[in-house]
Amino acid sequence: MAILIAADLTPDEWAAWWPALQAALPHETLLRERSSTPAEQIDIALVANPHGGELQGLPALRLIHSLWAGVEGLLADSTVPVDVPLARMVDPAMTEAMAQTALWSVLGLHRHFFRYAEQQRAGLWRQRRQWRADETPVAVLGLGHMGRSVARRLALNGYPVRGWSARQAEVDGVVALAGDAALPHVLAGARIVVNLLPSTPATRGFFNADTFAQLPRGSNLVNLARGAHVVEADLLAALASGRLAHAVLDVFGTEPLPAGHPFWAHPHITVLPHVAALTDARSAAQCVARNVQALRQGLPLQHLVDRIRGY
Ligand code: NAP
Ligand code: GLV
Repeated sequence: MAILIAADLTPDEWAAWWPALQAALPHETLLRERSSTPAEQIDIALVANPHGGELQGLPALRLIHSLWAGVEGLLADSTVPVDVPLARMVDPAMTEAMAQTALWSVLGLHRHFFRYAEQQRAGLWRQRRQWRADETPVAVLGLGHMGRSVARRLALNGYPVRGWSARQAEVDGVVALAGDAALPHVLAGARIVVNLLPSTPATRGFFNADTFAQLPRGSNLVNLARGAHVVEADLLAALASGRLAHAVLDVFGTEPLPAGHPFWAHPHITVLPHVAALTDARSAAQCVARNVQALRQGLPLQHLVDRIRGY
């Protein structure tokens, strides 16, 4: 049997993924082109932005494995077979990178480092009040693989952290709350909100005028999850009114962020080009290999997507 890589990758991405997958799966036949092998011989598809219809007509398909962590695009693609288990990328190296980005963002906001960068551009020497970490409450929305690790890292750095998820979670050193009823409490107490929710029908447009109104005046947003979570016009209005002081944004409704977009030049928005946790093909290929081996040996698969929940 063979593994199809149905991925819209740049040449640089292929140059990273291809040797990493070959090294992690030395006994498997890997295909970059579907046409090179009869469809009946393909039983696994590794996917990243597959072309519409690329996974159709594969009668032996038993596993679809996303090379990305977020799977909203795959779930929205009606040509992706719904009766085949779908696994997603959960890679400790990415989780670590996400914790680093979140800590950098929170430190930058808490200690005014983004403001000082702006002051430097203006040639302005001005010391701002220095708060302690334990005076800077942070809310982490989403306590999955990424959110837990972020919440924990922030707590270890002295921040009082409240985490929020759909179902009750437990994270060492973090006050974990769950469900819609708890959300106002989570938001009202936050100086900095870090978003690590998945993009689902329930969470799209989550950061809108209503949500911003529930935050204390002068709070900050760190969006490391998906651009679809944020209503851009409401974010700009919240920044203009002072409800929000600053936003660190790694993800956008349209990527790359178009030239001329108001976020680029906004003094109180820090733009990152979707790099909060880049996939490291070397470790990510090992994650894929563990699931491929589990499938071959009839063992349970890891990190399966719940198609009803949408993540
Ligand atoms: P995950 O393990 O699936 O965790 C998702 C978390 O969100 C869970 O705690 C879940 O609650 C919670 N959640 C989902 N819907 C909710 C709702 N309606 N209300 C409250 N909580 C809700 O996902 P992950 O691996 O941590 O990744 C999170 C997201 O990060 C991904 O979906 C992706 O979009 C993004 N990401 C971004 C980058 C980047 O570089 N910027 C890289 C990788 C991933 P339960 O635990 O109770 O189900
Ligand atoms: C990156 O954003 C991912 O979903 O892997």
